[in-house]
Amino acid sequence: MRTSFFAGLTWLAASACASDSAMRPSQALPLYTQECGACHTVYAPALLSAASWSRVMGNLGRHYGSDASLEPAQIQTIGRWLQTEAGTGRKRDKASPEDRITRADWFVHEHRKVPSYVWQLASVKSASQCSACHTRADEGSFRGRELRAPVGMKGRLE
Ligand code: HEC
Ligand code: HEC
Repeated sequence: MRTSFFAGLTWLAASACASDSAMRPSQALPLYTQECGACHTVYAPALLSAASWSRVMGNLGRHYGSDASLEPAQIQTIGRWLQTEAGTGRKRDKASPEDRITRADWFVHEHRKVPSYVWQLASVKSASQCSACHTRADEGSFRGRELRAPVGMKGRLE
């Protein structure tokens, strides 16, 4: 339950920028930001394929070892929106193991230089916590200059 309304606005405003605008939804869904950003980064819908989102939304009671159950009407609204905003193209269409963004080939490749101890730092906890390093992850923005080294990391992130 973070700044859902604000994040929604920023999503809209930021979509005007070129570089990774493809990552951002054409229109933010406040219900999504609110319900799906309560425990972790608000994942940009383009980070997973439509098929993966469909499985995630169909199994919220057993959600990566957690219970993220919602009312049927909420599941329907969020699920429908995710389908329209899901990632397309070769990179995202390929099935991500366990329907995880963090297990996709592109993810592993982009993060190959992150020292392994960094993922386990208390300030990161897991690769799923994008915002520990990408300061604008909640807005679907992952530019290099928006990175910050998490607390406890020696040296710089690059
Ligand atoms: C009650 C807390 C909670 C809520 C609410 C929640 N999640 Fe999660 N989610 C988790 C946990 C815990 C993980 C696993 C994180 C880890 O492995 O470190 C996770 C992981 C994920 C992942 C995989 C991330 C990766 O590692 O690639 C996706 C995708 C995801 N959640 C989507 C959603 C969506 C969509 C919603 C809203 C319908 C949602 N989550 C709501 C707790 C939650
Ligand atoms: C421990 C820090 C850390 C975490 C956590 C993390 N990343 Fe990254 N990410 C990086 C670094 C470092 C790079 C490489 C940046 C570069 O090469 O410019 C990167 C690169 C990327 C890129 C490529 C950016 C570009 O320039 O094209 C994307 C997209 C990305 N990350 C998404 C994510 C997502 C989504 C999550 C969460 C599911 C995540 N990252 C979690 C550190 C992190």
